Amino acid sequence: MSKQVRSSRKTVRDIARQKGATPLVCLTAYTAPVARVADEHADIILVGDSLGMVLYGMDSTIPVTLDMMIAHGAAVVRSTSRALIVVDMPFGTYQESPQQAYLNAVRILKETGAAAVKIEGGQEMADSCAFLTARGIPVLGHIGLQPQSVHSEGGYRVKGRHEAEEEKIIKDADALVQSGSFGIVLECVLPAIATAVTERVSVPTIGIGASAQCDGQILVTEDMLGMNGASVPGFVERYASFQDDMGVALGRYAQDVKNRTFPAARHCYATSPSSSGSWNDAAESKISPRKKAAS
Ligand code: KIV
Repeated sequence: MSKQVRSSRKTVRDIARQKGATPLVCLTAYTAPVARVADEHADIILVGDSLGMVLYGMDSTIPVTLDMMIAHGAAVVRSTSRALIVVDMPFGTYQESPQQAYLNAVRILKETGAAAVKIEGGQEMADSCAFLTARGIPVLGHIGLQPQSVHSEGGYRVKGRHEAEEEKIIKDADALVQSGSFGIVLECVLPAIATAVTERVSVPTIGIGASAQCDGQILVTEDMLGMNGASVPGFVERYASFQDDMGVALGRYAQDVKNRTFPAARHCYATSPSSSGSWNDAAESKISPRKKAAS
């Protein structure tokens, strides 16, 4: 008889139930070390295509490929057990047709183990969103500022400052809900509009540069930790200065190497056992934790 394994990982249903209750904590992660820590705090971890800019130094998210998203998505799934993992569909992998979106979303779910995908776009993506959700693929929508449209928009702009834009955001949100999306990311949308959408729709809204009234918030983890250079969008709160701390630590290491104070005896392997019969335990013991972290 088969044995059922219970997972404590959040599901899209858990996320949907949090609408109007405790705000959803959402973070991005692209790598195992960041994902491990984020998993202790986040309801949703998004493997965002922002990785193209944050990790790979690209100018935009446009060059990001499906293979990159799958490699990073799989690393994040492997190193987490609590949060719902959502993987971004990169530019050019879903916009052509619902069938294209389906085939590529299937690859993401099969090859990463993630439970959902995110796509950018509202009314124009409604058919694809419906096609995916009808076939068992949960979809997180993303409207307002859509970074994959940077070329047609001529840059990154706040959304909702004109009446037509406000109407479009509302219609986009309605279209996503009707086509079955389990949540909606609202990026760089004026607070009053984000609040209005949140009150209007039945699914959780997740704000980024939007409003504290959204059902949840997301930030790019590297931005909020100060790991991503000096310039971050104005909506980011810096909770740490990792890049500065890293500079100090690497500077100390460089100094130790130049002074020959690193490695010390405790970091080196012995050629014979000590009088107590032990080898250099300190250096030996450094092997196993690394092995454990990698497994
Ligand atoms: O790619 C990303 O990280 C995102 C979030 C910022 C919402 O889409």
